[in-house]
This record gives sequence, structure tokens and C-alpha cells, in this order.
Amino acid sequence: MRLWANLNEISEIKGNDIVIKSPLGTMWNDISFAALANEGDVKFDNGKKPVSMIKRLLQFCEDDNAIVMDFFAGSGSTGHAVMRLNEEDGGQRRYVLVQLPEPLDISNNSQKDAALFCDSIGKPRNIAEITKERLRRAGSKLRGDATEVLFDKGFRVFKLDSSNVKAWDPSAQNIEGSIEEYTEYIRHDRSENDILFELLLKLGLDLSVKVESKDVCDKIVYNIGYGVLLVCLSTSINSNEIESLAQGMIDWIKTQNPETETVIVFRDSAFENDVAKTNITAIFNQHGFSNIRSL
Ligand SMILES: C[S@@+](CC[C@H](N)C(=O)[O-])C[C@H]1O[C@@H](n2cnc3c(N)ncnc32)[C@H](O)[C@@H]1O
Repeated sequence: MRLWANLNEISEIKGNDIVIKSPLGTMWNDISFAALANEGDVKFDNGKKPVSMIKRLLQFCEDDNAIVMDFFAGSGSTGHAVMRLNEEDGGQRRYVLVQLPEPLDISNNSQKDAALFCDSIGKPRNIAEITKERLRRAGSKLRGDATEVLFDKGFRVFKLDSSNVKAWDPSAQNIEGSIEEYTEYIRHDRSENDILFELLLKLGLDLSVKVESKDVCDKIVYNIGYGVLLVCLSTSINSNEIESLAQGMIDWIKTQNPETETVIVFRDSAFENDVAKTNITAIFNQHGFSNIRSL
């Protein structure tokens, strides 16, 4: 963005010098902090910034497909600004916001309103809840309704955790027990979604990629990125189910036209025996799918 001014309007000649008549101002003079307290429809008294200011910062970057990152999200004003700017100029910018679930203390005057706000929406008293609520509210105010989605209003929330896959750490006193325990690599307390998103990270897939699921042969099969990755995390696959499960998955992939070779993933411990696992791999191979993995 550039500011232009005519020299004869902003300066005068004094002797041999050209002197500026009044200060030029800055790019931020017009940005108002007046209505900031209610901006975004959330309470946050810890350095909330105006959407108009962040939008202007975003405009310094000419790439309207940019990924905008804010490590100190606070009330989520950066996400709000990205949505607004996309709405205004038709850009496809995305945002990544990071916010610790920093507790809000109701007895602390500067945090009281934010804590009460969390109570009012029935969420735990922490800043990350305010960030998420603002993004929801900002999205709901963009143009378009439930039937006409003009802009992407969605977001996914991730929490940092250890891997879903157990690290090999055997007990020297009980090797047999350790081996037994590692017949299942996946931690018991993790959901299918946890495993799915770790897979996306490990395969280098975009975390915002489309994830669909459907029932194939009484098992949930996930289709990620239009057939780039197919995952079945069922805990039990019997020999007599192999053929129909594989065929159902193959039929689904064929409707997708994936951008890259499909990776197919199963839970290793699900197979009734090694023969079942070898057979399902062979069926996929016969249909031209060679990238079969198990967890
Ligand atoms: C000033 S606020 C951000 C305000 C935000 N721009 C807005 O408009 O609402 C700073 C945020 O950074 C977070 N923060 C501060 N120090 C941090 C750290 N060391 N690591 C991660 N987050 C931190 C705080 O939780 C706080 O929410």
C-alpha cells in the first residue's frame, strides 16, 4: 500500500528550502480503538487489537492465498480479520492461530469480564475458549447462509499431545510382557480422530483437508483429501470380511480421482491373522493400489 500526496499541497518554499507544512501522518491514524471493547462480540481486556488494523497489516502481503499465522491469538482478532478481508476482496487466505488455554481468574479485575463471558457461553474459563467463540461468531456474520456458503467459515482445533503411537520402551525385567503389550502400537486412550490427524501430519497432508467417512462392510472408513488417503481403524477385521471391505474401499477411491497415489491404512492388530492381512494387500495390489500400510 502506498500513500500519495501532491508536493505543492503539503509543502511550502522557505528561502532555498522546501518545508513540509503539516505532518504527513501515518498509515494508522484512521484506525479507531474506540469501539474495541465490543469488537468481535467477546470480552477480552488483554490487548485486543482492532480488526481494521490487522486487516491493514494483512494487506501488506499481496498474496491473497496466504496462510496467516498468529502465535499469540488472544481474542482471535487475526482470524476475524482474515475472514473479513476474504469477504471483501474474494481472497482465499487461511489462518493458523495459537493460544494457550491460559486460565481466567474471576477475582482479577482485568480478567473478570472475560471469565464471566466464558461462564455465559458455558465454557471453561480460559483464553482459548474466547478465541474459539470469537471465530464462531465472526464466521456466522459473514455473508451467505446455511444453504449458500460463500466463504469458508470453518476451523479445526488441535491440542498439543504426545504421539498416539507407543514408543518402544521395553522393560528389561519383563521382555515377554513388553512384547505382548506392543502387539497393539496405538495408545488405548486415543480416539480415531486423534490417530487420523497424526497420520495427516506424518504424511505431510494439509490439516484443513476434507475428511469424509462412511460405512463399508460395517466398518468406518475415512476418506481424506478426495481419495489421497483411505483409513480403516476398525479393531477387528475377520478373514471373511476382507473381500467386501477391500472392494468397497476400491469402489470409493475410483469415484474420487485422487491427486496422488492413494495410501491405504489399517490397524495392524485388527486382522484376524497374517493370512487375512496378506490377502487384503493382494486384493488392493490386483487393482493397482500398492501403498498399503498398517499401524
Ligand atoms: C496481547 S494478547 C493478543 C491479543 C490479540 N492480538 C487480540 O487482538 O485479541 C497476547 C496473547 O499471547 C498469549 N501469550 C503470552 N505469552 C505467551 C507465550 N510465551 N507463549 C504463548 N502464548 C503467549 C497470551 O495468552 C495472550 O492471550
